[in-house]
Amino acid sequence: MRRIAVTNQKGGVGKTTTTANLGAALALLGRRVIVVDLDPQANLTLHLLGGRETPPRTTYSLLRGECGFGEILVPTELPLLRLAPATVDLAGLEVELASVVGRETLLRDAVASFESSRAGTPPDGPTPAQEDVADFLLLDCPPSLGVLSLNALVCAREVVLPLQTEFLALQGVSRLLEVVDLVRGRLNPVLHLSGVLACMVNPRTNLAVEVLEEIRSFFGERLYQTRIRENVRLAEAPSHGKTIFSYAPDSNGAADYLRLATEILERALGRSLPPVDLTLQPARPEPPPAEPDGPPPGTATPAAAPATEGTAGSPIPA
Ligand SMILES: Nc1ncnc2c1ncn2[C@@H]1O[C@H](COP(=O)(O)OP(=O)(O)OP(=O)(O)O)[C@@H](O)[C@H]1O
Ligand SMILES: [Mg+2]
Repeated sequence: MRRIAVTNQKGGVGKTTTTANLGAALALLGRRVIVVDLDPQANLTLHLLGGRETPPRTTYSLLRGECGFGEILVPTELPLLRLAPATVDLAGLEVELASVVGRETLLRDAVASFESSRAGTPPDGPTPAQEDVADFLLLDCPPSLGVLSLNALVCAREVVLPLQTEFLALQGVSRLLEVVDLVRGRLNPVLHLSGVLACMVNPRTNLAVEVLEEIRSFFGERLYQTRIRENVRLAEAPSHGKTIFSYAPDSNGAADYLRLATEILERALGRSLPPVDLTLQPARPEPPPAEPDGPPPGTATPAAAPATEGTAGSPIPA
């Protein structure tokens, strides 16, 4: 299972929109996906469940140790996409966990015990049900670097960093990259920045072109070729409780997120995938080809972005 934290401590850059619609696109491409809402704003939950009743168990209950990861998962409009929902309760967790030793590893431990209890196949035991395992775990982080984001970074193997192509797009990014370094050094040696995503791009403005150039010179190959264009349909879909693929399947937003999912799969496989028809019928669950969890081929560390590859120097911030 690829575990990806979608994170940027800057607010409103497209983290939740990306988690919801990238998750949906991967599901439409036949991958089994779990998206996890780690933000007390619960925007991901509202986006995917709309006005449906708030599930009784959430990431708050999970991180308080009241239930297991599998128990909080709820279905969405797509058969291959499940959600670990959140509520505003999560806002209190930072304080509640202040004196708990090992609070940064709670999510990782919960997911590990879910994986080992569900995915492990004893040699002569029954095959686990297909819906009990996933190919992708996408973690939607809040716009802060507190205990919730740290739990995501400790649980994940990859970081995807959405950036808005606006003035000061890279502001605060070096702090985030330092935290990624710290987490890698202290708690999670496999964590790496696997991709940077330009969101809400208006290619007609000079500013967007200049900022994209700046992002490319800083991150090199790690900048996804796919750009998410500014698209009002993406902004409208959450209020209908739908992903872009059911709300506006012919929109640029749907095309861009499908292209992003394809690029992510192709990077891992090291080859092109056949084009996909955007009529977007939910794909049947098929065992996907093996996709490595590590850094994809051809995404070697760019010389201009050394901050993510350094070693840890100081303790993880509380
Ligand atoms: N490509 C896009 N085009 C137009 N609007 C977009 C696009 N992507 C996201 N939006 C809108 O921009 C706003 C911020 O997006 P989103 O909620 O995904 O950001 P976020 O980083 O998760 O924010 P927060 O830090 O508050 O959690 C939302 O209203 C969303 O609908
Ligand atoms: Mg968000």
